[in-house]
Amino acid sequence: MRRPLIVGNWKLHKTLGETLELVNAIKTGSENSTEVDIAVAPVFTALSVARATLAESRVGLAAQNCYPEKQGAFTGEVSPALLKDIGCLFVILGHSERRQLFGEDGAFINRKVHAVIKEGLVAILCIGETLAQREAGTTFDILATQLREGLQKISAEDMKQVVIAYEPVWAIGTGKTATPEQAEEVHAFIRSLLASTFDAGVAQSTRILYGGSVKPDNVDNLMAQPDLDGALVGGASLKSADFLRIINFQKS
Ligand code: PGA
Repeated sequence: MRRPLIVGNWKLHKTLGETLELVNAIKTGSENSTEVDIAVAPVFTALSVARATLAESRVGLAAQNCYPEKQGAFTGEVSPALLKDIGCLFVILGHSERRQLFGEDGAFINRKVHAVIKEGLVAILCIGETLAQREAGTTFDILATQLREGLQKISAEDMKQVVIAYEPVWAIGTGKTATPEQAEEVHAFIRSLLASTFDAGVAQSTRILYGGSVKPDNVDNLMAQPDLDGALVGGASLKSADFLRIINFQKS
């Protein structure tokens, strides 16, 4: 069975002081949430502070991005090796903000997926269609392309270190969530792609998260869908009460 995974993507938010406050609240509030895997992704500069607080907790550390080289003349970049060194378990890759605002393409994201796996970390590979693509009826084509590009030359064995996050771009930060049925339709499609790309075992064991305006009031219905294995949470992960409610979802 796939264990649910809830990841808080803090994006460009929180000072060191605010990070400490939030991780402390999440650490304490999640002590009894034993049925779910939890991670938070603070900004790079706050990873070390978050790590110190979360070391003995149920909450794992995630990074929001990385560069696909170990070290070298890459000014301004951070490698998976350094993220591992600081205690990260997960790295979010291919987020639509990286694709749209920073021009990341499928080949570059694929290099990052390889680099993260090689370092022994888990890659959270984000894919998702824009509103225009959904309205043009190309959602499945777009997702198939992003998945194929992102997982180029990734083996079935490597897939143990990959989580997929379906994040419809039109639902990110907009308050518009995909309906549980819309999300389930896409998740089932992604799982079928994993079966045809790899095998039934990989399709059944790979966690597929949903992201895009996940909130305390919609998480229960989303998580009730059979192919939703968790959530990548942006805005609602910045408030401890909201994030803790999401972690403690009740399938309805
Ligand atoms: P949101 O962000 O929950 O604020 O929509 C999700 C994400 O970008 O991962």
